[in-house]
Amino acid sequence: MAAKLLAFVAAAALLLMGAAVESHNITDILNGYPEYSVYNNYLTQTKVADEINSRETVTCLVLSNGVMSGLAAKRPLAAIKAVLRLLTLLDYYDAKKLHDISDGSVLTTTLLQTTGNAAGNLGFVNITDLKGGKVGFGSTAPGSKLDSVYTKSVKLFPYSIAVLEIDHPILFDGLLDAPTKAANLTALLEKAGCKTFAALIASSGVLKIYQSAMDKGLTVFAPNDEAFKADGVPDLSTLSNAEVVTLLQYHAVPRYVPKASLLASTGPISTLASSGAGKYDLTVKTKGDEVTLATGLDISRVANTVIDDTPFCILTVDNILLPTELFGTAPAPAPGLAPDASPSPAPTTESPAPAPKKAKAPAPERALSPPAPPTESPADSPDDGKPADSKSVKAGAAGKPLSIWGFVAAAVAVGSMLLAS
Ligand SMILES: *[C@@H]1O[C@H](CO)[C@@H](O)[C@H](O)[C@H]1NC(C)=O
Ligand SMILES: *[C@@H]1O[C@H](CO)[C@@H](O)[C@H](O)[C@H]1NC(C)=O
Ligand SMILES: *[C@@H]1O[C@H](CO)[C@@H](O)[C@H](O)[C@H]1NC(C)=O
Repeated sequence: MAAKLLAFVAAAALLLMGAAVESHNITDILNGYPEYSVYNNYLTQTKVADEINSRETVTCLVLSNGVMSGLAAKRPLAAIKAVLRLLTLLDYYDAKKLHDISDGSVLTTTLLQTTGNAAGNLGFVNITDLKGGKVGFGSTAPGSKLDSVYTKSVKLFPYSIAVLEIDHPILFDGLLDAPTKAANLTALLEKAGCKTFAALIASSGVLKIYQSAMDKGLTVFAPNDEAFKADGVPDLSTLSNAEVVTLLQYHAVPRYVPKASLLASTGPISTLASSGAGKYDLTVKTKGDEVTLATGLDISRVANTVIDDTPFCILTVDNILLPTELFGTAPAPAPGLAPDASPSPAPTTESPAPAPKKAKAPAPERALSPPAPPTESPADSPDDGKPADSKSVKAGAAGKPLSIWGFVAAAVAVGSMLLAS
């Protein structure tokens, strides 16, 4: 009896999991409405679409093409991203709910508030039932007018996603001020606890490679200082300049993929070091809100966002990303770097890796003496470093597949019991 009850609970949990996974796709929804194609396009470019899709309950306040084009003209993507986040309410509002607001006015939170960029409560939106059946939206900044007016309901998926049109963007002073383009990457990295990495990219010349890629879309995975001191880190001072450059290029992706987008994209991604199919790829794995990057040799958690200046962002990682192409899979000499052996774009005269000398790994060979941290199953490290393990990628991190199969087995068991009774 107890077993039957347990199986039933397990089956119910499985159903709930299935329900939570089912989600909306704002890009797909708006594709049906060409009058919002400009808005839709910016949702994709800024990756706010991924943030919207990751929310279970959301209201998108959309702007028609003319209004959106006027707003976006000559503005940096980072500013447009802020506006789009403010226009994404983290609650479900249809016309009835708008007109039924108790006391006629309510504050609702938005994506801008949850991303942490908004000062104070500026990431909230004031919704007020105005005279004459109109509903106005406005900023919470003192002195703001409720001059964004609800015009119509575009598409509703009750209690999941509502798409409403408003006539005017919600703005406040400072919302459109993008982070200064002249951000000093070295200073940002140092402040975020990535001094060693900052020194390496500066001394190797890779900083210039990053800077020239920033405008077209770039995501940098910066290991923190602890990562360079961790047990088993190979002695980077034994690498040639060209190898250091390749290693640092491996820590960047020539696309804008902030954390919300990584969460929506399991599978292999190519890096700045990638030259051919599958070479120097990283494999993205997700589990709940966690993103990890697998190199084939080790696995690293994506920790914090240092800067998100669309289309450029820096995320910190807990471990150095060690490509199998450079460090091999067994304690054998690393393969030659034939295609990358040409002089690095900005060769240095002094040793490119001063700090890692603190690293404990004494062996000059370029292999991990102890295996990578044992938190993940070794089965996650295919020998060739290629994403051959797409099944385990889908299933999430190690350990998860087992519990899912447990649920499936329980569901099958309860099903047969119900049939039998
Ligand atoms: C959402 O829909 C768009 C357009 O149909 C598609 O390109 C995109 O891959 C979808 N996103 C997800 C996460 O499924
Ligand atoms: C919304 O704004 C109006 C007009 O400024 C104000 O009277 C009202 O108190 C605000 N509502 C909330 C919940 O702050
Ligand atoms: C950037 O910051 C670093 C360290 O904080 C400093 O040494 C460097 O001069 C700065 N670069 C520029 C261009 O300001």
